[in-house]
Amino acid sequence: MKLWGANYSSEPDATFWEFNRSFTFDRRLLSEEVAASRAYVRALGRCRAIQPQDAVLIEGALEQLLTKARTDPAYLNADAEDVHSFVETRLTEAIGEVAGQAHLGRSRNEQAVTALRLWIRAAIDRMTGATERLVTSLAEKGRSAFDAVMPGFTHTRAAEPIAFGHFMGAHAWALVRDRERLLAARRRVNVLPLGSGALAGTALPISREVLAAELGFDEISPNALDAVTDRDFAAEFVFCCAQLQTHLARLAEDLIWMSGPEYGFFTLPDAYTTGSSLMPQKKNPDSLELVRGKAARVDADLVRLLVLMKGLPAGYQKDLQEDKEAVFDAADTALGSLAVMTGVVDGLGLNREVMHEAASREDMMAAGLAVALARQGVPFRKAHSLVGSWVSEAQRTKVPLREVAARGVADHGAALSGRVESLFDPDEAIRAKAAPGGTSPAAVLVSLSAALARVKTSG
Ligand code: ARG
Repeated sequence: MKLWGANYSSEPDATFWEFNRSFTFDRRLLSEEVAASRAYVRALGRCRAIQPQDAVLIEGALEQLLTKARTDPAYLNADAEDVHSFVETRLTEAIGEVAGQAHLGRSRNEQAVTALRLWIRAAIDRMTGATERLVTSLAEKGRSAFDAVMPGFTHTRAAEPIAFGHFMGAHAWALVRDRERLLAARRRVNVLPLGSGALAGTALPISREVLAAELGFDEISPNALDAVTDRDFAAEFVFCCAQLQTHLARLAEDLIWMSGPEYGFFTLPDAYTTGSSLMPQKKNPDSLELVRGKAARVDADLVRLLVLMKGLPAGYQKDLQEDKEAVFDAADTALGSLAVMTGVVDGLGLNREVMHEAASREDMMAAGLAVALARQGVPFRKAHSLVGSWVSEAQRTKVPLREVAARGVADHGAALSGRVESLFDPDEAIRAKAAPGGTSPAAVLVSLSAALARVKTSG
């Protein structure tokens, strides 16, 4: 059933009809559409715009419609134009002409944006929950071996020793911010457009405030034309997904190479790897590679929405029908990636000896040595260049750096002489970084606990 056409002399072209339809994808908005319709019908009944008994009848039929859709998949195999016309058609089949009263003064322009806002709100709630679970996994895993030393990298070159808890915490804190970003976006998503009509507002005496309260919206939209036009709330949500996915991709990337045989710091759980059809020895990190690869999708979804809006005039345009798939894809991808990542982190194994060995490489202590020298009164730039020359001497002569350094220190900072050995101990090196936010085991524990507490707040 089309919701329009009385002024038409021909049916739509069949190819165009298929092209025009959005029901194939916007049926995912069915329960949101029904919830909004129920609230709207109640509002119409309350202000006597329709007979209160009609409102009751329609609401009951809407409830049944949803039950039917949930229990009988064939019920959704309809040639409907979109989810809004699907509901009206099924409602008319069920209760006849009175079904049309549900649409008194209501435009699909406001319905589409209301349903999308409800859907995104629910997606944000799922996503903040899933992010909290992953942060918890990272922090707990970090706590389980908070003081295990490993190399920290810059430019993918080993730089200084860090604690494993510091590494887990870095990834956890990024996700704490992603969760807070989602919660901030939620405030701008959770605004009721219904009551905007097609663009000019409604002449019916419905209470938009009551409608908002019934649907759990915090506010009503303050301008009807803006309400049906803008999709900034959707773009903001997809940006949150894109930033989150970028953080997941970074964690994936780190785990991929650090678990490979060349580094061997971690082992990935078998359940999240796949074998090779040719090489029997392989356990490939496909789960992580997909999380990394899918960041491209979410970035593309964001660009899709921004470009969709660019150049559109105020008012509803059919272009906006293209908003939904980008939103669904971004949400599905981020939620799926969060679940996979949580499984990988929970099952991550640590090879503490390998990590320790890699963190013990003498050149990684060079910065610590320079700072220690400077604290003995050697000007820092001089200390930096002295240590640099010792590093190159050690490389040239194949004499261990600690021996070269011990000799040099004796010349320049006698008070350090007895401590050179400890400066080459990676466990000592991490303990020294005791300022808040640093990698000393004590600071790491404080930071991990703070992340755990923060991810449980309401933002
Ligand atoms: N299916 C459309 C969308 O998703 C809503 C329909 C509004 N169409 C219209 N011609 N006013 O955006």
